[in-house]
Amino acid sequence: MVMNGNEFYEYLDKHTFELRMACIEHPLVEGICKGTLPVEKVWDFTEYNYYQVIETCDRILNRARNAPTQEIRNLFIEHCTEELGHPELALQCIAELGGDARAVLSRPPTFELEGMTNWLWRLSQERPYIINAANSMFCLEGILEAHCIKMVQALSKHYGATAKAIQYWEVHIEADEKHTQNAKRLLSTYATTEAIQEECLRTAVRTCQYTKLAMDSYEHR
Ligand SMILES: [Fe+2]
Ligand SMILES: [Fe+2]
Repeated sequence: MVMNGNEFYEYLDKHTFELRMACIEHPLVEGICKGTLPVEKVWDFTEYNYYQVIETCDRILNRARNAPTQEIRNLFIEHCTEELGHPELALQCIAELGGDARAVLSRPPTFELEGMTNWLWRLSQERPYIINAANSMFCLEGILEAHCIKMVQALSKHYGATAKAIQYWEVHIEADEKHTQNAKRLLSTYATTEAIQEECLRTAVRTCQYTKLAMDSYEHR
């Protein structure tokens, strides 16, 4: 049965809550928050972030290309400009915390993270923009915003992070609050058929599952 916009958004929020929390409160993040993990694991988690965001702009431009109106296209183009420079800030964080940022560039992401980003890439090319709003903007950027709030505190408290080290995490708190608000507006306005609502939920669930596996792979690296 088709739900109205707000009902659907709440349904999506509720039915992905546990899966999103499993990523938000992942042991890798919790260990960093408590300061019990060595700095090498902070480098690993930041490397995971680097590979997760490296193709964000390309995926958003695919989304813009598939958008039905100029207004929505403009929203994605603006979104794209707000993502510029973020991968470099992740590398800057690693370097500021004493890691080798250049080494990151010479090794591929884990299979699990590669699987996840390939899938995101394919969705952005093949599925309607609204499906991508559910997976990338609602799930991924929502999880990232929550991670960033935790990381800014933890890095300053336990790892002696400089202002440059926390810049990647800081910029995402504000930016991804906006991006998840955009997701909410798009989903509650344009996910108006039963088929689209079902696919949004199915895709969001899978995004959370991929995210958890990718985070596991960096926890155990
Ligand atoms: Fe970003
Ligand atoms: Fe974002």
